[in-house]
Amino acid sequence: MSQFLPEAFQTYIPMLIQLFYLVAMALFIFGIKRLSSPATARSGNQLAASGMLLGIVVTLFDREIVTFEFIIAGIVIGGVLGVIAARTVKMTAMPEMVAIFNGFGGGASAIVAWGELTRAGADVTLWAGQDLGTAGLGILIGSLTFSGSFIAFGKLQGFISGRPITFIFQNYFNLVLTGAILVLIGWFISDPTNMPLFWTIFGLSLFLGILTVLPIGGADMPVVISLLNSYSGIAASMAGFVINNNLLIISGALVGAAGLILTNIMCQAMNRTLGNVLFGAFGGGGTAVAADDIGDKSVQKTFADDVAIQCSYAKKVVIVPGYGLAVAQAQHTLKEVAGLLEEKGVTVKYGIHPVAGRMPGHMNVLLAEADVPYDQLFDMDQINPEFKSTDVVLIIGANDVVNPAAKTNPGSPIYGMPVLNVEEATRTIVFKRSLSPGFAGIDNELFYADNNQMFFGDAKKSLQALSTAIKELD
Ligand code: TAP
Repeated sequence: MSQFLPEAFQTYIPMLIQLFYLVAMALFIFGIKRLSSPATARSGNQLAASGMLLGIVVTLFDREIVTFEFIIAGIVIGGVLGVIAARTVKMTAMPEMVAIFNGFGGGASAIVAWGELTRAGADVTLWAGQDLGTAGLGILIGSLTFSGSFIAFGKLQGFISGRPITFIFQNYFNLVLTGAILVLIGWFISDPTNMPLFWTIFGLSLFLGILTVLPIGGADMPVVISLLNSYSGIAASMAGFVINNNLLIISGALVGAAGLILTNIMCQAMNRTLGNVLFGAFGGGGTAVAADDIGDKSVQKTFADDVAIQCSYAKKVVIVPGYGLAVAQAQHTLKEVAGLLEEKGVTVKYGIHPVAGRMPGHMNVLLAEADVPYDQLFDMDQINPEFKSTDVVLIIGANDVVNPAAKTNPGSPIYGMPVLNVEEATRTIVFKRSLSPGFAGIDNELFYADNNQMFFGDAKKSLQALSTAIKELD
């Protein structure tokens, strides 16, 4: 597009482009910084999005654009699909959307590498070895991210079984396949015009993506998606090296680093190693335990009227939200119940476990959507010392994050995972539909404890009944 600018201006264009790229990068970094608090997250997102717009516009001046038709078509189609997806996706389906977006990101990076190779034609033999190597690795990581993300999406959506799909020696097979692709990339560096070789690398990388994600349990998909997100950033960064674009190199590196940090945070919060997530074939759906099939153990059932009385006469109530709250879309009703209790002088706080729900920050976003004040949200470390002085804990659709087995049962798959010490409160009340296990597929001793009661039913309906019952107490 620079050809449309005045002649005298032309010499400054490369410098100005780099300057604007720097501004775009700063916008990305400040945008990410603002994402660290729900109060500033929205403006942080807008800041980063404006950086992206600036980056796109500046790139149009950076390149000699042959035709604008594809660019405009891409912006319109991508923009419309993005807005529709962002506006219509349910909070519970957010990991699926991120999976698809990651997949497209990885695929786009692979296509950029392929496009540059094709554009260079026979001149590709003049490329330096490291450029060819970067292009090859970009295709490997981009294609793997593309196919792996779609498998992750399929597992979350239920198109593909959530159980680990594996065959004997699969991990070794994957290792050999990765080695073979790297050898082929080495061969490609010495023979870059060999297109069948290029397509073989591409096809095998897609296959590797599928084989990498299939053996991972559906429940671990959020961690996998975060890791694939990191991969898509690395692939973008490599594409940046291939086309010599600083903005792409740095923004890709930012995504790569952010994805890795997030993956690490999730693994730590579950007290599992990344190796265990990737190769441990964990989760994938537990067996449901019917309310009448719990052997000699028994639970105390409770109902709205009783819960209303216990909460209304409490000094402090802590609410622990979990995945079931998101499934039931009960956040607004929950806020209403909390408001009614506050009107009665009850102190209400929310205890948020870092991996409650199915994605990082799931509960914070859900509660923010219902306008729950941020100063009522407490992290696990902040709320844990408070349970001893809490009268009632309302556990809404949460299960694993309040399972004491994580502290007491060394044989439990979640042993060592930091959990909320809800059992230290005078009374706990669990809102869920049955005694079915949560994500980790294991039973929860808390349900059978003397100071616990079960309020069976869909979280939204139960909370609606509770709200009515509290109002009737007046
Ligand atoms: P879970 O342990 O998965 O339990 C959720 C509970 O919600 C289920 O036991 C289910 O019981 C109940 N439920 C479902 N639909 C409901 C509805 N409509 N109304 C009422 N209850 C409903 O959830 P959690 O405690 O939030 O723990 C999260 C788990 O996900 C952890 O194990 C964590 O490691 C894992 N995980 C989280 C992340 C992130 S980053 N958040 C990432 C990877 C894995 P019923 O079927 O009986 O109703």
